[in-house]
Amino acid sequence: MSQPLGVGIIGCGNISTTYFERAPLFKSIEIRACADMNRDAADRRAAEFDIRSETVDGLLRADDIDIVVNLTIPDAHWPVSKDILSAGKHVYSEKPLVLTLEDGRAMRDLAHAKGLKVGAAPDTFLGGAHQSARKAVDDGRIGKIASGTCHVMSHGMEHWHPNPDFFFLPGGGPVLDLGPYYIANLVNLIGPVKRVAALSSMATPTRTITSAPRAGEEIPVSTPTNVHALLEFETGATVTFSASWDVWAHRHAPMEIYGTDGSLYIPDPNFFGGEVLITQRDSDVAPVGDGGHPFSRNNQTDNGHGFANYRAVGLADMAVAILEGRDHRCALDRALHCVDVMVSILKSGETGAFVELETSCTRPAALGVEEARGLLR
Ligand SMILES: NC(=O)c1ccc[n+]([C@@H]2O[C@H](COP(=O)([O-])OP(=O)(O)OC[C@H]3O[C@@H](n4cnc5c(N)ncnc54)[C@H](O)[C@@H]3O)[C@@H](O)[C@H]2O)c1
Repeated sequence: MSQPLGVGIIGCGNISTTYFERAPLFKSIEIRACADMNRDAADRRAAEFDIRSETVDGLLRADDIDIVVNLTIPDAHWPVSKDILSAGKHVYSEKPLVLTLEDGRAMRDLAHAKGLKVGAAPDTFLGGAHQSARKAVDDGRIGKIASGTCHVMSHGMEHWHPNPDFFFLPGGGPVLDLGPYYIANLVNLIGPVKRVAALSSMATPTRTITSAPRAGEEIPVSTPTNVHALLEFETGATVTFSASWDVWAHRHAPMEIYGTDGSLYIPDPNFFGGEVLITQRDSDVAPVGDGGHPFSRNNQTDNGHGFANYRAVGLADMAVAILEGRDHRCALDRALHCVDVMVSILKSGETGAFVELETSCTRPAALGVEEARGLLR
């Protein structure tokens, strides 16, 4: 086997565009085919990006596909990933990897039995901003991490997504939808979580879609849309995490980490770039600097604003790991630990009790400037 590995995509909806557009940046992967339960959606993407449209079964049987990327909705992640592994192909899944620990363990057993790798988004913690923060932590610039705060709060998803139903059903909600970006970056910076506690609620039992084409339609809410959690890490660090779709405006920063010798102000971990700031003891606030990290560089614009988008880097790193027989950064055990953190937060919200985590994991290897450059074409 040699670079590039052949990639197929199942699920040709909203986020698939980003994968089709960004994957060509990376030399270890080549998207060759796509499929969807809605054949028209697959045909459209195939025509747009000049690749093959397949049925789901056809894609799973294709000899030129080594890794299948699962971009279906959260509820379908495990059944589709199970079919991919059963067909003898590596899986890279959008987040959340699975919705229960039980399914995650079954996935791990199946992958081990088949000798296949599983990877999962998010990969934004591999962005230049978050790797610069990681370097500052590893270089001891803020001392031992004692605590931190994370906030991801907005007024929801029904104003932009064309089919926002899944966001408000079990498997959706702000913790499972946006939590992965924050938890994955906390694991990147601090390591695994030991126990959690949370309060949860929902402001309204229904929401009204305001985006096209279903504007005006009322949809049910059956999962918490407002969660305030406490996370205790294995290192002893404690972090608050607030995730809500019931907030119109606020002034909290996305992520701040406090150490014995200083603080780090970290930009939104849903994105690859942005400026990381540091204070050391009582010094003034200063930029950490990215050391020329390639995944800080703006490569896309949205409404005139430039931003860095290197989505699929986790998939590219997994392809290299398959070829080299090494651990990949967005690996199953880390994604499963993130699921454990998130479902434990939701469980604590229901029961009012602290929940001890059942899983642990190692921190992913840092992705330095040279190795990051080496992934690009
Ligand atoms: N939209 C975003 O900005 C975004 C960002 C990051 C991550 N994600 C994640 O990506 C995933 C997909 O999100 P989306 O916004 O693209 O959703 P979407 O509803 O726009 O697209 C999902 C596609 O999957 C197909 N599908 C569903 N079940 C299937 C099955 N069993 N077999 C084959 N095809 C199936 C649907 O027909 C649809 O075309 C979700 O897990 C979401 O959390 C989305």
